[in-house]
Amino acid sequence: MSGSLEIAAVTKTFRSGGPWGETVRAVDDVSLNVADKPTVLSLVGESGSGKTTLARLILGLLQPTLGTIRVGDYEVGRMRGRAARQAFMRDVQPIFQNPYDTFNPVRPVTDALFETAQNLTGASRRQAEALVAEALKTVGLELSEVEGKYQNAFSGGQLQRLSVARALIPKPKLIVADEPVSALDASLRMTVVNLFAELRDTLGISFVYVTHDLSTAYYISDQVAIMHRGKVVEAGAADRVLTHPEHDYTRRLVAAIPQVGVKWDDDFDAGVA
Ligand SMILES: Nc1ncnc2c1ncn2[C@@H]1O[C@H](COP(=O)(O)OP(=O)(O)OP(=O)(O)O)[C@@H](O)[C@H]1O
Ligand SMILES: [Mg+2]
Repeated sequence: MSGSLEIAAVTKTFRSGGPWGETVRAVDDVSLNVADKPTVLSLVGESGSGKTTLARLILGLLQPTLGTIRVGDYEVGRMRGRAARQAFMRDVQPIFQNPYDTFNPVRPVTDALFETAQNLTGASRRQAEALVAEALKTVGLELSEVEGKYQNAFSGGQLQRLSVARALIPKPKLIVADEPVSALDASLRMTVVNLFAELRDTLGISFVYVTHDLSTAYYISDQVAIMHRGKVVEAGAADRVLTHPEHDYTRRLVAAIPQVGVKWDDDFDAGVA
């Protein structure tokens, strides 16, 4: 399959717990397309705008109330048979917000990686070691450096690198990363998001990057979708949406981050003119 993504008129409602059983439209009639070429799509919006719900729908962890989502050849949540479901799980991988949630603190991190390789690909232990070593190398780590170490031996940035490696093991086509750097120090954020852009270019993986942070989104995205109250209010090429926003809500978001509206080279040109 490919990493193309087609979200067609998707709505997800939840029953809120209140006595009147009101429904919340967490995602409200969203349509988005990512073509069949390696792409970083950022989902940007304030808290409660529906980003995580949409990410979980793409991963097949939630079912849409209305509408359909296709990733490559699969209609998410409608795969027939175990083989198709397993293939989907290899092709579409998650990275979560908090790297401390990805690994069990009482087991060596590499045990979890070997297990992922064996479960997702049916590899033998030896084959699993080779797959893990390859994934680690891709994120700049050597198996010998990390083997047998526990979560607490790593910094947050190293752990998020290990989470990226975990996601790479089954050689996915699409990675859905929900606020993957928000738990990291600002100084580390760019190194992790840069890794996504690099993996898009070298391995041809597409990314759905969920973030509050317009500046990292601007820096690495090909496309941006701005979410507000469950709706995508504006979507398109990152450069266009973030430098010439058409929707008021996007304008307000961009205005809050002064450097986003100015391209570095424009700035430089202005300076020397
Ligand atoms: N399981 C659930 N049951 C009821 N309501 C939910 C559930 N999951 C999400 N919601 C509601 O749906 C809306 C969107 O939530 P969601 O978590 O998708 O937002 P978000 O954009 O990811 O926010 P944040 O930036 O804070 O992570 C919110 O109003 C939230 O309370
Ligand atoms: Mg969220």
